[in-house]
Amino acid sequence: MENEKDIKKYWDDAYSGHKTPIKIAKDEIAVENNLDQYIKDYSMHAKKILDYGCGITYNLFLAHFSNPNLELGLGIDPSKNAIDFLRNTSEKSGFKNVSFEVGDFARMQKIKNEDFDFVICMNVLDCITKDIMIKTAGEIVRILKKGGVFLLKVNFYLTPEECKRYHLDPIGDEAYAQKGLFRIAFYKDEYWIKLFTDLGLKLVKSDEYARLENGPKDRIFIFKK
Ligand SMILES: C[S@@+](CC[C@H](N)C(=O)[O-])C[C@H]1O[C@@H](n2cnc3c(N)ncnc32)[C@H](O)[C@@H]1O
Repeated sequence: MENEKDIKKYWDDAYSGHKTPIKIAKDEIAVENNLDQYIKDYSMHAKKILDYGCGITYNLFLAHFSNPNLELGLGIDPSKNAIDFLRNTSEKSGFKNVSFEVGDFARMQKIKNEDFDFVICMNVLDCITKDIMIKTAGEIVRILKKGGVFLLKVNFYLTPEECKRYHLDPIGDEAYAQKGLFRIAFYKDEYWIKLFTDLGLKLVKSDEYARLENGPKDRIFIFKK
């Protein structure tokens, strides 16, 4: 539990520089890579989209511009700094159908069954401890509509040897800490696929996303219910 609070604080501090909201125009939200393209494609026909652990990402703004019939794009994140930034940016830009809330697993539990057509969760499930991650995975499947799409992105995979080079200390169960605080868990692709197929989803696509041109690639898994 202490760990969970510390992880949230770590991320809230990381977003503390994002204070000034931005007014976003349509031509500033372009599809620049395969990840944006997935967000656009799956947003186009979705009425309700959830970005869980949205941080300060613009996924829901891209969805807003991609789908004039979008009813709700909801971003949830425990970081007040991140949510204030996105909420104020959204207000300043005049977006009526996107909304942002400070929240976590407890907020997710309040969502009714099969409420969202499209759920996005990027670099979150590997950045929280396993007990909450497993519970969160179950909630994602519960709130996803039949026929709905779940886009999961997790960080690149590092072997235990590579983790040493990044000064990540093993703390068991594929998890690694930095300065004593849980930072990340490196599960292989098969782990993520099995987790969600066991929960009843079907894998429709695996892909990679290059955050940096020559850096290790994040992993994308697209599931359908
Ligand atoms: C690596 S960041 C990813 C943010 C964003 N999705 C992105 O792709 O840039 C991890 C995010 O998980 C959020 N987070 C931390 N603990 C969480 C929890 N228990 N439940 C949900 N989100 C959490 C953090 O606030 C942070 O925004």
